[in-house]
Amino acid sequence: MSNPAQILLIGAGELGTAFLPHLSALPNTKVTLGVRTPSKYTQLAGPDVTLTALDITGPSDELSKTFAQYDIVISATGFGQSAGTVTKLANEILEAGKLRKKAKKERLWFFPWQWGVDYDIIGDGEGLMPLFGEQKGVRNLLREKSFESHVNWTIVSTGIFMSFIFEQFWGIVDREGDQVTMRAFRDWNHKVTVTDVRDIGKVLARVVAGDVESENQVVYAAGDTVSYGQLADLVERIMEKKVEREKWSIPHLQAELAKDPDNLIKRYRLVFARDGVWWDKELSANHKLQIPATNVETYARELFGVNQ
Ligand SMILES: NC(=O)c1ccc[n+]([C@@H]2O[C@H](COP(=O)([O-])OP(=O)(O)OC[C@H]3O[C@@H](n4cnc5c(N)ncnc54)[C@H](OP(=O)(O)O)[C@@H]3O)[C@@H](O)[C@H]2O)c1
Repeated sequence: MSNPAQILLIGAGELGTAFLPHLSALPNTKVTLGVRTPSKYTQLAGPDVTLTALDITGPSDELSKTFAQYDIVISATGFGQSAGTVTKLANEILEAGKLRKKAKKERLWFFPWQWGVDYDIIGDGEGLMPLFGEQKGVRNLLREKSFESHVNWTIVSTGIFMSFIFEQFWGIVDREGDQVTMRAFRDWNHKVTVTDVRDIGKVLARVVAGDVESENQVVYAAGDTVSYGQLADLVERIMEKKVEREKWSIPHLQAELAKDPDNLIKRYRLVFARDGVWWDKELSANHKLQIPATNVETYARELFGVNQ
């Protein structure tokens, strides 16, 4: 690696801004933040953070040359990319690795936008989530081509962002005035892994620092892994009142989606009711490294304004 190691962080949205302080605090590294309009983000620049204009929808040959200048490229460009964007980026990274090989530089280390669920298991969600299917394709592409392309990769699977499960539109924690209804996707024993975005950067920084075995593999993070039953009990306990409980079984979620097949939230609910959305917290990098991470109870108490 160069000295200092050159990191390109692409995107400064929810994740990128949360990653930045952890990455820039790493010793002997220099972070370049790639965004479409650097003038929007000048407050993020600092002694160890430089801004550069970069659009990942741009021409591939130019992007590959840019990426080849960095030792580490981390994508935080959002999940809502149009079809093909994540594959295009992965291919450009593979080309950048080859350019580095020619220049006798070390392998390029790539972190794709895979800060989410287990796309290997979910695939395209039986046709419901083409973008998830594309994420699985990126994993396969990297597994197949990274070695010959002089690229190493690490995927950090974070589960669902913790804030997400409390969003009203999901229907998991449904707060209507004084009434709280808790819903289970599939059944009360089905689980979900969730991580607070503020904690993902802590795990990422330790991975980049080399404290976790991560070469060409998926590293798991988990702020918490809870069953829907545990979640309902927890909300009941901290709100100190009885909650209504409603199970949305897979047949129920399928029937709801059939009435409204283009509804993205209904698609997500069905996919999250299936497998690939949880793993044991004990297997997570944050648990193994004893990185303090927010659990669901702490997050919920903060959100509901209920003290410990
Ligand atoms: N895992 C989960 O459970 C979960 C949960 C909730 C949400 N999400 C998804 O996660 C996302 C949040 O993650 P995030 O922080 O990566 O996304 P984000 O908050 O949408 O931020 C995206 C960043 O990438 C930049 N960007 C967008 N298009 C670009 C391009 N073509 N070239 C260069 N930069 C570009 C944006 O900058 P400019 O637009 O200023 O250029 C912005 O700084 C949301 O999209 C959300 O849908 C996932």
